Amino acid sequence: MERQTVFSGLQPTGNVHLGNYLGALRNWVKLQDSYDSVYCVVDLHAITVDYDPQQFEQDRIEAAKVLLAVGIDPDKSLFYFQSQVPQHSELAWILGTMTPTGVLNRMTQYKDKVARGIPANLGLYSYPVLMAADILLYHANLVPIGDDQRQHLEMTRDLAERFNNRFGEVFPIPDALIPETTARVMSFADPTSKMSKSDPNEKSRVLILDSPDVVRKKIKSAMTDSDPEVRFDRDEKPGISNLLEIMSTCTGESIDNLVAEYGGSGYGVFKEAVADAVIAELAPIRSAYTQLDDEEIARIMRRGALDARTRAEGFQQTVRQVTGLAPV
Ligand code: AMP
Ligand code: TRP
Repeated sequence: MERQTVFSGLQPTGNVHLGNYLGALRNWVKLQDSYDSVYCVVDLHAITVDYDPQQFEQDRIEAAKVLLAVGIDPDKSLFYFQSQVPQHSELAWILGTMTPTGVLNRMTQYKDKVARGIPANLGLYSYPVLMAADILLYHANLVPIGDDQRQHLEMTRDLAERFNNRFGEVFPIPDALIPETTARVMSFADPTSKMSKSDPNEKSRVLILDSPDVVRKKIKSAMTDSDPEVRFDRDEKPGISNLLEIMSTCTGESIDNLVAEYGGSGYGVFKEAVADAVIAELAPIRSAYTQLDDEEIARIMRRGALDARTRAEGFQQTVRQVTGLAPV
């Protein structure tokens, strides 16, 4: 069988947190060894909300740096900035002509953003179409993402099928790869909503570059209930269940084993243990981060963009041919 392709993207909006890491990025790193992998800093997605261009330059480099520190290896993966590869936008336009607005109206991420007061614009509205284009551009088979992106991936699959039915078998139908635990890491300030980059409360999330002291403080102040038993129950004990999932993913211990070990030890002891596990998991990332310099990163990203453009152009030629847009 042909080697399968993995594609995923991260928005360069700062504040890369434990949810991003455990929900998605950890899988990106693992998949590099067994798949043809393509990873993208999706800067065009990030400009769908208000931003400062100067700050954004910094944030883009920062996102690339964090991903390299996490373990994305440019010798194993194709790694680049989305805006440097115009084929993403070209395919998004074509897929947009096949996307019913009724489908876009149902996208919960869009509805949530607008409900939070973010101005609705065409880019924000068609965000999932660009995401579909990212994935289909490389004929990806597998897409490692957190649970919040499930709906966008469903739409991508539908678009691939619609395109294939109309123009012939061009795109494989991609599958989501969503972790069993930590598919949705919850906020430390409110364990009923997801940990998010945009929450103004910094204590709601652990950043992957937070120092051990800061990680420990945030975990110790994570909101939990008042019954001191450590057990897994998402409805009754969302805070403790969140910490159990985090610890299970970081240590590789099952949740059952963790409950057996910490069930009666009280929240204080349990939270210390969770903090130890998270600190150990993040230590190598912090240390790799300090070794990277911006010049080196710029060089890596320029090379990535060249390779990505070449590859994307090959695929797009087929799309142009079947859609009647080939050069005359
Ligand atoms: P974003 O920060 O929106 O660019 O998301 C990057 C990746 O992190 C996506 O695959 C998301 O699904 C994933 N992700 C974001 N927040 C969380 C969370 N709280 N729990 C699990 N995965 C998440
Ligand atoms: N929408 C994704 C998010 O907010 C980021 C993203 C853009 C993405 N394009 C993608 C993820 C393609 C996976 C594949 O997290």
